[in-house]
Amino acid sequence: MAEQFLLKRAVLTGIGAYLPEQILTNEDMAKRVDTSDDWIVERTGIRQRHFAAPHETAAYMGAEAGRRAMEQAGLKPEALGAIIVATSTPDQAFPATAVRIQAALGAKKAFGFDLSAACSGFIYGLSVADAMLRAGQVRSVLIIGSEVYSRILNFEDRTTCVLFGDGAGAVLLETREVEKAGPGLLSTHLYADGTLGDILYVDGATGQKDKPCHLVMHGREVFRHAVNLLAGAVNDALAENSLTPADIDLLVPHQANRRIIDGVGKKLGLPAERVVVTVDKHANTSAASVPLALASAVAEGRAKPGQLLLLEALGGGLTWGSALLRL
Ligand code: COA
Repeated sequence: MAEQFLLKRAVLTGIGAYLPEQILTNEDMAKRVDTSDDWIVERTGIRQRHFAAPHETAAYMGAEAGRRAMEQAGLKPEALGAIIVATSTPDQAFPATAVRIQAALGAKKAFGFDLSAACSGFIYGLSVADAMLRAGQVRSVLIIGSEVYSRILNFEDRTTCVLFGDGAGAVLLETREVEKAGPGLLSTHLYADGTLGDILYVDGATGQKDKPCHLVMHGREVFRHAVNLLAGAVNDALAENSLTPADIDLLVPHQANRRIIDGVGKKLGLPAERVVVTVDKHANTSAASVPLALASAVAEGRAKPGQLLLLEALGGGLTWGSALLRL
């Protein structure tokens, strides 16, 4: 019987995005700090970023992106099993952003929690959701990356404040019985190296009194590690699935910097048309960057059902990871 060859997989059934209305171009940033469009474009590929208005918090934006993903999938809020929110910029220390979003969506039966893995948070979230779905704990998980880095940027530090933006992206994963060549998450690989914790961090938290709360980054150090670590994560994904770069339809990388994106693409030998780039429009939106890039590729018709997508990200921790997904 054909049924016995079916596999239980976490399948992407919906995707949603939310970007704040306010857009700041590099020229706008140059009015605020000593920088220029030329410097930013040449070093990073960034041309503009979205900055949140006061009401556009991680919970607000995450709920909007999540609602759109659920609508696309046609899943009623009350049928949702769980919500995972990857964020470094939650509205509050608790309740978790995920639980605020549960209320906003009316997802009465869902449990939820936040996950802290900086820019790799969405990949970490996919991995946790995949395990929960394959274990049968729930049948649907909304994974949201939502960030308001504009609130933790140090506008006295021109080397970091021009690099980041705000936004949210969400995917709905649901359990499906599929054939081996069918859709779903094929693998996730997660990594961390806490000895590199001081090259990219936020210098405060709610548990610390009277401390500022700003992002600090030693950009050159991060750059030095990024391409090799990401290429390693991507190669591990390919090896585990007995694939080569030629099998990948689209690389959906973390959108931190055009030079890092190009570096990974080059190491894999992928032509530009098979690499998704949104850093020019969104800048680095941390945990929101991969789902925002994926949503944009789907909306543009570049990412289509049946295609094999390789997602990767690296961020503070350092943490990094990859996910192989057939749409
Ligand atoms: N505008 C204009 N000039 C700037 C500037 C800005 N926003 N920021 C820095 N500069 C200047 C510096 O002052 C320095 O000037 P100097 O040579 O006169 O001292 C010069 O540009 C070079 O600075 P440096 O920091 O060495 O630049 P860089 O070539 O390393 O580029 C980054 C800086 C941040 C773009 C780069 O290191 C990078 O992309 N790192 C990875 C960051 C990243 O993606 N992190 C996220 C991972 S999740």
